[in-house]
Amino acid sequence: MSVYVSSTTAPVNIATLKYWGKRDANLNLPTNSSISVTLAQDDLRTLTSAATSQSFEKDTLWLNGNEESLSNKRTQDCLQDLRNLRHQLESQDDSLPKMSQWKLHIVSENNFPTAAGLASSAAGFAALVVAIAKLYKLPQDMSELSRIARKGSGSACRSLFGGFVAWEMGESKDGSDSMAVQVLPLDQWSQMKAAILVVSDLKKDTPSTQGMQLTVATSDLFQERINNVVPKRFVEMKEAIVKRDFTKFAELTMKDSNSFHATCLDSYPPIFYINDTSKKIIRLVHSINAFFNETIVAYTFDAGPNAVLYYLEENEDKLFAFLYKLLNQVEGWEPKYNKKQLDGFKSIFENEYKERIEFFMDHELYLSITRIILTRAGPGPQDSKECLIDEKTGLPK
Ligand code: DP6
Repeated sequence: MSVYVSSTTAPVNIATLKYWGKRDANLNLPTNSSISVTLAQDDLRTLTSAATSQSFEKDTLWLNGNEESLSNKRTQDCLQDLRNLRHQLESQDDSLPKMSQWKLHIVSENNFPTAAGLASSAAGFAALVVAIAKLYKLPQDMSELSRIARKGSGSACRSLFGGFVAWEMGESKDGSDSMAVQVLPLDQWSQMKAAILVVSDLKKDTPSTQGMQLTVATSDLFQERINNVVPKRFVEMKEAIVKRDFTKFAELTMKDSNSFHATCLDSYPPIFYINDTSKKIIRLVHSINAFFNETIVAYTFDAGPNAVLYYLEENEDKLFAFLYKLLNQVEGWEPKYNKKQLDGFKSIFENEYKERIEFFMDHELYLSITRIILTRAGPGPQDSKECLIDEKTGLPK
C-alpha cells in the first residue's frame, strides 16, 4: 500500500509585543493581539515529515528520536481540523485517496539542542500543521492554516510567516478571526538581526499556559495592559515596523517586555521569569544605548530568563564591541565570525570606546550566560528535500 510523505521546516518566532492571556483556553484565543519577528532557520528550526497510508495502525509521533504521545488535546485538535479540511476535498473529488480516514506518522527534529533553553513549541506546531497541510494538498493559505496552528500553541500561529508578523486576536467566539497576518515581509527589513543570550537557570519556569492563566485570574495590572496598553501599542508597533523606524520599534519592544513581566510580578502568587542576570542585561542595553546617545539595541524576554536582543546589521560593530568584550568566553561566536572579525570587535572597544565609558561593566556577566545564538530575521516555513520518514516502511529513517 502506498505511503504518502511530505516534509517542511518551520521557524521560531520571538514576540516583540507579547501574547499573555487567553480569553478561551480551549480554542487558544488570546486576550490581546501580538507581534513577533520570525528568526532564521539556519540557526533555529523544526523539520517535520508527515506520512499517511492505509496500512498505518495508529497516529504516531517521533520527536527528536523518541516516540511521544499524540494524545494531548491540542495536537488532536490540530489533526482533527486538518482531517476535516481534507475530508471536504475528498467529498468533492472521488478520485482522491481517502487520507482523511488514515492514520498519520509524524517525525520531527529541531536543529538546536533542548539544552539551548529555547521553547520550541511554536516552530513544532507550525511545522506539524504545514507538513500535514502539504501532505493533504490543502488549498488554504497561511493565515487560514495559522488558525489551526494556534490551537496547538498560541504563539505557533505567528511561525507561519517570515519577517514581521501580527497575530490578530479577533472577536468571534469560534476563533475564526483569530489568526496571523504578515506585517512586513522579510525582504523589506532584512537588516534586522537578533542575538539570543541563553541565561543559566536552575529552576524550572512556570509553563506559559499555566502562568498566563494565573495572571488573567489574579493581576489587576493585567486589565490595564489588555484594555489600554496593548491595543495602542499594537497600532504603534505595526506602524514602526512598516516605516522601519528602529528607534520606535525598539522602545516599544522593551516597554512591552517590561509590561508583560510586570504583570507576572503582579500575579498572585507572583511569577518570576526574569532573574538577576536578565536584569543585568536590561541595564547593559540601556547603558549601551545611552553611550551612543541612540537606540541601537532592544531586549525582550519570554517566559524565562533568556534575553533576545534585536538590532540592525549596520550597528553590529557598535553592539558587538560591548558584547564581545563581556561575553567572549561564551560559546557561540566562532561558528559565525572568524578571528579577524572578532579581533575587530575587540579593537573597536579598546581603541574607540574604552576611555569614554562611564557606566559599570560587569566583567563576570559571562559566568551566568551559557551560550550566545547569533541569528537574524528569517523566512516562514520552507519545503524541505530532507525527509525523516522512510517512504517504503513509513517509519523514521
Ligand atoms: C511569553 O504560545 O507558549 O512567549 O498558547 O499556552 O501554548 P500557549 O502559550 P505559548 O505562550 C507564549 C508566551 C510568550 C509570549 C509570546 O510568544 O507572544
